[in-house]
Amino acid sequence: MTAKLIKGTEIREEILEEITQEVKEIKAKHGVVPGLVTILVGANPASISYVTLKIQTAHRVGFNEVQDNQSPDISEADLLALIDKYNKDDSINGILVQLPLPKHIDEKKVLNAIDPDKDVDGFHPVNVGRLMIGGSEVKFPPCTPFGIQEMIVRAGVETSGAEVVVVGRSNIVGKPIANMMVQKGPGANSTVTIVHTRTKDLASHCKRADILIVAAGVPDLVKPEWIKPGACVIDVGVNRVGEKVSEKTGKKIAILKGDVDFEAAKEIAGYITPVPGGVGPMTITMLMLNTLKSLKFKLGLM
Ligand code: GUN
Repeated sequence: MTAKLIKGTEIREEILEEITQEVKEIKAKHGVVPGLVTILVGANPASISYVTLKIQTAHRVGFNEVQDNQSPDISEADLLALIDKYNKDDSINGILVQLPLPKHIDEKKVLNAIDPDKDVDGFHPVNVGRLMIGGSEVKFPPCTPFGIQEMIVRAGVETSGAEVVVVGRSNIVGKPIANMMVQKGPGANSTVTIVHTRTKDLASHCKRADILIVAAGVPDLVKPEWIKPGACVIDVGVNRVGEKVSEKTGKKIAILKGDVDFEAAKEIAGYITPVPGGVGPMTITMLMLNTLKSLKFKLGLM
């Protein structure tokens, strides 16, 4: 193995510790802690496990955490009214509506109803616009791209002037991370290319990348020969390719694979994120950071 592993599990611990300390300081000085509400509609098993982890993490860093579980039959109007209630609630700094929502609810309408200054997911068009403008305009970068940028910076990878190639053009990962890396400022100043399913020669673009960010959702899409020796490879893919019995618990668990052929890629890359334990743990971590930032904006500390 030549590549240095960038472990999200370790960086998560560092950041959560920093957040915990800052929450204590703000509480001592200002008498308040960040408030986060998680709204879960229905009982989708994956959503329950994500929300449970978000709640546990919020408690761990000392936030005031409000769980609001709603029936899958809630009407769109009632859900919008609920969001309005939290928009007006002074003790709440972050509102998170877990996606996906049931079919009878218009997801876009719901996300657009969240006060942009409490939109810690960074999905509201106002926050997408703020991210596009960059600099001091940015409030809440979406959590996964925010986590990716933080991993690159904390690993000590030079971004200024670097060729960044982003594989995938989703609104949640591909488009925002490309936008973030091209901005002026630390952890950015890169030359960015986005490639996608209609790109003519995926390999030729990937081969140029000093930093290759892959969020395509296709297991082993990126072949080792597409990787520039010494490059930083960030694998956002979490693909379930089968099941196995856990040695620890004896229960069936999913076998996860990234979008990059890790075993071969780690012999060529300079830095690489594993799957699992790479980008995954960063998303919830950055949700906590955005919620803390929301309170700091309100208190005039940022
Ligand atoms: N469902 C899957 N990922 C996410 C996320 O990052 N935020 C929200 N709100 N829902 C999700």
